[in-house]
Order: sequence, then structure tokens, then C-alpha cells
Amino acid sequence: MSEEIKLRVSQIEKSFPGVKALDKIDFSVRKGTVHALCGENGAGKSTLMKIINGIYKPEAGQIYIDEQPVQVKDPIQARNLGIAMIAQELNYVPEMSVEENLFLGRLPVNNFGKVKWREVRQNTLKFLKDEGLHYKPDQKLKTLTVSDIQMLEIIKAISNDAQVIVMDEPTSAITQKEVDLLFKKIALLKEKGVSIIYISHKLDEVFQIADDITVFRDGTVVKSMRADETDINEVIAMMVGRKMENIYPKEKLQTGETLLEVKDLCSDNLYENVSFHLDRGEIIGFAGLVGAGRTEVMRSLFGLDSISSGEVYISGKKTSIRNVAGSIRNGMIMLSEDRRRYGIVPVRSVMENASLSSLEQFVYGGYAHRKKEKDTVKSYFHKMNVKTPTLETSIQSLSGGNQQKVLLAKWMLRNPDIMILDEPTRGIDVGAKFEIYKLMTEMAREGKGVIMVSSELPELIGMCDRIYVMCQGRIEGELQKEEFSQEAIMKFATGTC
Ligand SMILES: Nc1ncnc2c1ncn2[C@@H]1O[C@H](COP(=O)(O)OP(=O)(O)OP(=O)(O)O)[C@@H](O)[C@H]1O
Ligand SMILES: [Mg+2]
Repeated sequence: MSEEIKLRVSQIEKSFPGVKALDKIDFSVRKGTVHALCGENGAGKSTLMKIINGIYKPEAGQIYIDEQPVQVKDPIQARNLGIAMIAQELNYVPEMSVEENLFLGRLPVNNFGKVKWREVRQNTLKFLKDEGLHYKPDQKLKTLTVSDIQMLEIIKAISNDAQVIVMDEPTSAITQKEVDLLFKKIALLKEKGVSIIYISHKLDEVFQIADDITVFRDGTVVKSMRADETDINEVIAMMVGRKMENIYPKEKLQTGETLLEVKDLCSDNLYENVSFHLDRGEIIGFAGLVGAGRTEVMRSLFGLDSISSGEVYISGKKTSIRNVAGSIRNGMIMLSEDRRRYGIVPVRSVMENASLSSLEQFVYGGYAHRKKEKDTVKSYFHKMNVKTPTLETSIQSLSGGNQQKVLLAKWMLRNPDIMILDEPTRGIDVGAKFEIYKLMTEMAREGKGVIMVSSELPELIGMCDRIYVMCQGRIEGELQKEEFSQEAIMKFATGTC
């Protein structure tokens, strides 16, 4: 493997109002290697990558490519220097088509400045065919799933012939099959001498593909090292600054009456005859491959999508689910898997995002009680260790994991009876995951019920009392705690039992 340094940054500094995001960062990537960046939410990983891609301008420091100093003023220049990035928060225009997205910022034009759409179409078709993807070039992005869009972003970066590709949480929303595909692609890219900077909170993945690892903490580099000279536990300890022992704070609790009972829920083409129950004090899991129908079932339960038949009982009372407002009134909340599309209100402050759906709690006689609102939000942020410079900071500027915590706080404020959490720990570091698990445990202890949809089997096994496994729109199996194992779940999930 090459010792040649492809990209190097030296003494990079970057501040945002109230935070020093990066402090004197030195970091280098060898040619033709995968270099993983690890670190807790808010450690500064994405900020450094945005600097390398010309999205942010550092206050100090220098970037070198092939040991030559370069200025990266904007992403277009980054692209010309051979740098590409797959961003962490997928920022897409829902009305845009697949081909427009693929050629964004580099549409071929003729001498009269007109876009050569025929060429765009042909190239797009070729790409999709080469990559074995089934979408149509003129299909709108809003009709694709998160996983499709993420795959498209990956292909776009690769198709640009970049020499350095930054992948910021590329596997947070794709299926295992696509992860395997991505890893094969990464291996091919390495052979071609391409360097990859790989950011992920999934440390097992990191150890699967990384040659080098750099750990960030609070805007500084803790250490850079060869992957084969360290291990997962050492990396975790460096990330959080302490040893983590029991990562699943699950308690065995007495369960109570049935909170939620779902009977034969059906929705045309999406899922059929889904029946399950959730008791007070329980945490139940929904496992399955991406696309098994778990999110669709939860969306219907929460009133986001309609059902074609079936019955829902909340605390024994038959309930018709009409819309989200009704579900919230019935004590049910849902944390969505796609926080961009359904979660955050981007331009608003963290404070507003958190208190948005609980405003009536802070209104007395027609007046908003700002101080109480602020104190309550603050206490939740404190409890969940949300890292934000101020409550007025726009939510967009928080790190991915911290955005998720704000959304969770927003729902906790409503003190719901039934919490549906769809991939609640996606993109979240080990420390913050632990805090979310603790909150789930606390909810259960208070006699509430939690439904966790997750693609990470260890967390389902670690946190749930029972697990339902879905496959192709049906519940294929229900596992009791003593039956839990990754193999047992996968058997049902792949429909091979
Ligand atoms: N545009 C911005 N405005 C203000 N603060 C910002 C902005 N971008 C990042 N920050 C802050 O800089 C710090 C580093 O954030 P960054 O997004 O780089 O973290 P990260 O390591 O990528 O975390 P995660 O794993 O959650 O994605 C955080 O405190 C974050 O709130
Ligand atoms: Mg990030």
C-alpha cells in the first residue's frame, strides 16, 4: 500500500458562533487507501470535510493535494481538483429528476448554451444500466426512497472521476446488499489509486474497510493510526474519552395492560394482515430488511398514510386513525427515519423545533409563556446532552446526531404514551446512542410503550422485550427475549424459515 500522501491538511481552524468546531487540525490521507474518521456527534468531522470541499472557508490552515498547497473556494473548484463528497444530510430537491440530479452543475451544453438533453438521457441510461439500478431517468426524486437517493449520490460521486472521495455516513440508509455493493466499489476505487475518506458511526464497518483511522474529539484530532494496530474498544475509548461498558441499559420490567393492539392491518401493495400488540412498560422491536414494510406500517399507525382495512385499539378502545394531529392527541408520537423530509424545520431555531408541537403547554390565557418554554426545552436538552451553542441557533447548523436529539426532545416534551421510533439511532455516536437507549428505558419504567424500528440487530437484541420480524409486507415471526439471536431474526427477515 502506498505511503504517498494524496491529501493533507495542516493547522486548520474553524469557528462558528459559540463553538470552536476545529482547532489546529493536522490530518493526511494516503493515496489509494480508505481513511476512516471517527468521533462523537459534533466532533467536527463533517466540518472538516466541508472545508476540504470548499463549502466552508477555514479561518486558518492549509490544504495540500499531492503536497502542493491549494485553495478550495467552492465545491466546483473542489471537483476540478479531483475531490468529491457524498454529504451526510442528503439535500435534494424533491421535484428534481434522476438525470437532473446526476448532472447537477455539469449539464452538457451546446455552442448556443442549450442543454444537450439527449446526451444527458443517454448517459443517465448508461449509468443506471452499468450500476444495475432500476429507476427511470425522468423519475422525480420524491418518488425514490432514502436508500435509493443515497445510492444515487454515491454513484454521482464515483462518476465524477474523483481522486479523493469523501463519504460522510454513506451507509446510514442503505440495505446490506447495497452496503456490500458499495464496499466492492470502494475496493475497485482503491485499486485505481483513489483515496477515500470514510465517516461512519458503525465501527464494525470501519474496521471492515479502513486502512487508517483518525479519531476526532471536540474539534481536535485525538490520534491517527493504522487500522490493524488498534481495535473497536480502543477507538470508542478515544472517541468518548472514557471506557463504555454496558451499552444497553435495558431493565427487566413488569409489563402492564395492553396499550396498543393492531389487528389485521392492510394497505394496498405495502403490507398485509399486520397484527401485534404493545403493553405498558414494554419496548418492542421491528426487524426486517429495508423495504420490508416496517416504516409503512408505522406511518399508517401514526396517521401519515391511510390503511385499507384493519383495526387499531389504544388502551382497549377501538380507534380510527385519521391524521397525525389525532394520533398525537391519542398519546402517540413517531420519530421519522428521514429527518430531512419529515423531521426538522430547517430554518427555525433548535428551540422552535423542540417546542413546535407542544406549544399549547406553554400558553396560558392566550399568552405564550416564553420562560417556561425555554426552561422546559433546556432541561430536556440537558438530560439528553444536546450540543448547541444557543437555543436560538438554527437547527440546520447542528451536527447530524444533535439534530436527532432535538427531534427526540420535541416528542418527549409531549409526554406520549406510545412512542414509535423509526431508526432512532441512525447516524448517532455511541455516547448519544446510550442516552437515547436510557430515555427509552425511562419511558418503559414510567409505564409507557416504545416501538423501535431498527436495522441494527445488536440494538434490537440489546433493548427489546419482544421482536417482530417483517418480510415483504408481512410479519413473519415474533421472537421472545430468550429466542433472540441475529440468525433467528435474519431467518425470518429473509423469509428462509
Ligand atoms: N453551519 C454551522 N453553523 C454553526 N455551527 C455549526 C455549523 N456547522 C457545524 N457546526 C457546529 O460545529 C460542530 C461540529 O459539527 P460537525 O457537523 O462537524 O460534527 P460531526 O463530527 O460531523 O458530527 P455528527 O457525527 O453528528 O455528524 C458542532 O458543534 C456543530 O454544532
Ligand atoms: Mg457529521
